[in-house]
Amino acid sequence: MNSYGHFDDASREYVITRPDTPWPWINYMGTGDFFSLISNTAGGYCFCKDAKFRRILRYRYNGVPMDAGGRYFYIKDGDTLWNPGWKPCKTPLDFYECRHGMGYTRICGEKDGLRAESLFFVPLEHRCEVHRMKLVNRSDRPKQIQLYAFVEWCLWNASTDMENFQRNLSTGEVEVCKDAIYHKTEYRERRNHYAFYGVNRPFDGFDTDRETFLGMYNGFDAPSQALAGTSGNSVAHGWSPVAAERFDLTLAPGAMEELIFVLGYVENPADAKFCAPGVINKAPARTMMDAFATGVQADAAFAALRAYWDDLLGRFTVASAVPELDRTVNVWNQYQCMITFFMSRSASYFESGIGRGMGFRDSNQDLAGIVHLIPDRARQRILDIAATQFPDGGCYHQYQPLTKRGNNDIGGGFGDDPLWLLFGTVAYLRETGDFTILDEPVPFDNVPGSEVTLLEHLKISFRRVATHLGPHGLPLIGRADWNDCLNLNCFSLDPDESFQTTENVAGGQAESLMIAGLFVAEGKDFAELLDRLGDADAAEVRTAVRTMEDAVKKHGWDGEWFLRAYDFHGGKIGSRECDEGKIFIESQGWCAMARIGADEGLCDKALDSAVKHLECEHGLVLNAPAYSSYLYQYGEISSYPQGYKENGGIFCHNNPWVIIAEAMAGHVEDAWRHYTKITPAFGQQSHDLRKVEPYVFCQMVAGAEAARPGEGKNSWLTGTAAWTWKCVSEFILGVKPQYDGLLIEPCIPLRYGTYRIHRRFRDATYDITVHSTEDGPGKVFIPYAPGHQTIEVIV
Ligand code: BGC
Ligand code: NOJ
Repeated sequence: MNSYGHFDDASREYVITRPDTPWPWINYMGTGDFFSLISNTAGGYCFCKDAKFRRILRYRYNGVPMDAGGRYFYIKDGDTLWNPGWKPCKTPLDFYECRHGMGYTRICGEKDGLRAESLFFVPLEHRCEVHRMKLVNRSDRPKQIQLYAFVEWCLWNASTDMENFQRNLSTGEVEVCKDAIYHKTEYRERRNHYAFYGVNRPFDGFDTDRETFLGMYNGFDAPSQALAGTSGNSVAHGWSPVAAERFDLTLAPGAMEELIFVLGYVENPADAKFCAPGVINKAPARTMMDAFATGVQADAAFAALRAYWDDLLGRFTVASAVPELDRTVNVWNQYQCMITFFMSRSASYFESGIGRGMGFRDSNQDLAGIVHLIPDRARQRILDIAATQFPDGGCYHQYQPLTKRGNNDIGGGFGDDPLWLLFGTVAYLRETGDFTILDEPVPFDNVPGSEVTLLEHLKISFRRVATHLGPHGLPLIGRADWNDCLNLNCFSLDPDESFQTTENVAGGQAESLMIAGLFVAEGKDFAELLDRLGDADAAEVRTAVRTMEDAVKKHGWDGEWFLRAYDFHGGKIGSRECDEGKIFIESQGWCAMARIGADEGLCDKALDSAVKHLECEHGLVLNAPAYSSYLYQYGEISSYPQGYKENGGIFCHNNPWVIIAEAMAGHVEDAWRHYTKITPAFGQQSHDLRKVEPYVFCQMVAGAEAARPGEGKNSWLTGTAAWTWKCVSEFILGVKPQYDGLLIEPCIPLRYGTYRIHRRFRDATYDITVHSTEDGPGKVFIPYAPGHQTIEVIV
């Protein structure tokens, strides 16, 4: 069993000790609107605001070799050309280490006595990446070397950059100064933004034309200029502009040289675009470079970034007897929640940044992971999302972050979408107590003049689902529900159609038990909220919830578990009567979280059935048995081979639904077992099997019926982050934010039942020592009061 790295808890870093990880193991940098993806070999790219429309570096997806493009440093030392991050030359290193930390990455390589320590980070106050390169001659001989710093520019629109070559190959433009290369393609016309790669000393040579630097038929691994120790001083006109900067350095034994690079993005006002005809206004770029001219300045900016994360991650910490739990809760789960909130599902090593904007349901769920960290941004996000809703309660499935406008290409009509606005808003309100958000005027489809209050949007959302019911009184599924691949109205036989966007067949009556459970759970919360507001509509909501519960008990119970859906023609999905897909996880999770039929024992039975039929070594699979052939009446779900993705994969996102339901039902050991199976820090899969980053959750781990059960895919951007956070913080550790305080109601095995929680909650700070006991009260309420409280609770 190979190990590629380990956690360093004290510094909140994951330390990668060899570069040839089974898949690139990445990190994210950025906290505002400038973001970067960086792999353990410095691959990746950055963008400002929008991964599709404002892409700064070019990246080649699924390239060969893998992970092509990034910020590459080349060192030419004698006859050897090497990279501190190993790639792209892959020259064997004497030492390699990559440390992914909170918003920064350090990569250190050593070869023949020369150590190159690079630190990459995106500072808080500027739209740039800082690359700090320290070279130390650890040998006893003087060294004369060339250092090259290299990036390749993307022509802004990451989509057309990969397609429209007849135009692109003629548009590229740059400007070169002694210490910076500016990328200004299309700046001459409608763009008001450019990018630059600057450094705090003049370079000794440069290239901006890719073919001059690399050589026509060479890859990044064999740039002909760097191999020769030269530069072509080329100025790009069209083709593919790059920035390659050469430094001739002499290092005495023991000597150190430091260079600080700024890879920045600038927007100029329309009337200040140029300082002379055709010459870009570089003043803002200069200001940015000046901010990182010295090590002292870079230190300060880095310290500020660390302080930012210290503050955030200091809001909720646990000290328990389980180190895997602590490092997940205190560091990586919360960090992943932040990243997922920033990115939605747009840009990762599995999401191209081109196809998807911000998801309506995704972004609402992501809120649950960050309301306690960045409540102001959560507030804004809720208002942005609500503004993409239509007057009838329907909504765009996605919107583009740059414009905040609904994305027409993706379509709408997903039956579950409106309910997630309730979910996100309630999470925000319980955390912050800020009821003023409900009075905010929010337009429909961003049309000025159409504003109603956010509270009205919530009512419309609820009514939308309450009034779109099928023959069994259950919610219509529409294009799909949470499971995007359950396309019951699609009937596609055309391989060129997208399951996600093709117009559905009209007249369908397909119904979803997952939405039914979601409706009941969110409806109960909504009624409670309306009560607090003294709003008489609470009664209407309660009635609708009760009617739905009855419909579920009558038409949604299969004997041992909850059905999953009724198809277009009223046939059952997720029933013992089915040959395949007899049982599904989503309806067990949601109906049991909604406690539908709990008194009659339905929830306990459903959860037991989930354990019996869905649990495998690596977690709970989505459905079993998986579909073994394509069933056009069910859609994309059956397009996946068995055991993968929505067809029998362990969709980590919905495991916490079952875990939360187990906790609600008091099934302590089941909840804990499920949790430790999907949480990567518990190391249930070897690195080689899991393949993807061992420090973050992935969307899917291959299920029992897959060819390689336990193999992870789609790491980072997944609702799993927020849901596992909700699950561990509120249900396992049992710290539940309520409108008036914190309810402590843990569900953790007694052997781990004593732990300390530090929690900031609004203007209050709580230090709580929890002792779980066999026969304690089960829960203790701590009323909210500003100030600091140290509390011991026995539950
Ligand atoms: C994936 C889903 C995803 C959907 C929409 C499908 O191919 O399997 O997980 O939600 O695409 O992007
Ligand atoms: C990923 C999508 O982003 C999410 O919206 C969906 O609910 C899940 N896949 C399940 O299909």
